[in-house]
Amino acid sequence: MNLIAELEKLLSGLHADLPGVSSLAGLDELQTVYLGRKGALARLMGRLPELSPADRPAFGKAANAVKEEMVSLFAQRRKVYQTQAEDAGLARFDPSLPGRLPGQGTLHPVTLVMEEICRILVNLGFETVNGPEVETDFNNFQALNFPPDHPARDMQDTFFVREGVVMRTHTSPMQVRAMLEKGKPPVAVIAPGKVYRRDSDMTHSPMFHQIEGLLVDENVSLAHLRGTLTFFLRELFGPQVKVRFRPSFFPFTEPSLEVDMSCILCKGTGQRVIGRGGKEPCRVCKSSGWLEILGAGMVDPAVFTAVGFDPECSGFAFGLGVERVAMLKYGIDDLRNFFESDLRFLKQFI
Ligand code: DAH
Repeated sequence: MNLIAELEKLLSGLHADLPGVSSLAGLDELQTVYLGRKGALARLMGRLPELSPADRPAFGKAANAVKEEMVSLFAQRRKVYQTQAEDAGLARFDPSLPGRLPGQGTLHPVTLVMEEICRILVNLGFETVNGPEVETDFNNFQALNFPPDHPARDMQDTFFVREGVVMRTHTSPMQVRAMLEKGKPPVAVIAPGKVYRRDSDMTHSPMFHQIEGLLVDENVSLAHLRGTLTFFLRELFGPQVKVRFRPSFFPFTEPSLEVDMSCILCKGTGQRVIGRGGKEPCRVCKSSGWLEILGAGMVDPAVFTAVGFDPECSGFAFGLGVERVAMLKYGIDDLRNFFESDLRFLKQFI
């Protein structure tokens, strides 16, 4: 048979086959049969050498025309299926259904408490500063009057990055950075952030948060420290809170103080009222009526000397653990809750 006649037969074959296709997949299959690499058209074109050289150009032209037509027939058909599929999707769309809200996150309780603490202190005039969690031994220890090999370093189990570089064990090195940066008094800063210690149990985590405070100015006294911290704790926990100051030791303050506040659960009585007039020992303050909440003191002259300030300067400093405050405020008794990313726990603090 004449090859050009066969081309025409192929095209009418496709015209006849197309109406029988009922799905997009069927259409794909049919396209392979006709236009695939080993399909009917390709096979026909492979027979070109059977023709005399004079007949070849006419056949080539006809074959290309048939191919173009086939491609466009498949494309038209494909469009019909796509429109049908879209229409079907629209038919399934029910505009009266309530919308699905995207999942909404909440702030972590530690973040919430940290923000509240900073807000109170910023209102008092402190400026917030941030610094690195990888710190030099000089800033973390030496400038804060912990000499090398001094037993006071044992108070803080340390992660060493390499000789002379540590994960900061407290936010106190920000005192050093702030004073070096300002160059001279007055300095009034707070430094919130993460700190690291080689420690892990119910009440200790290898990473936790602290907020450091530092005020350096003329004639700063212990009275200013007491007034500031008493005001701060009453803003944070309520006006009924009583505050007491006990002597303590930190290398970077002299005198050093431990600050306690009356227990917020038993209101300082050491006992909790249960049922009808019954009482039980308060588990939060272990019946003492008091909770340790802050470390503080007057800046040691050795710290002023280390940062090039006049050792006659006056200032106070304080530091507190944010998780501890959050545990007390929200009545949480296991620190690990904060770090386990359990949404049932985290979603309670909106
Ligand atoms: N840096 C101390 C700690 O982590 C807390 C502290 C105590 C900070 C007394 C101070 C301070 O600024 O004066 O245990």
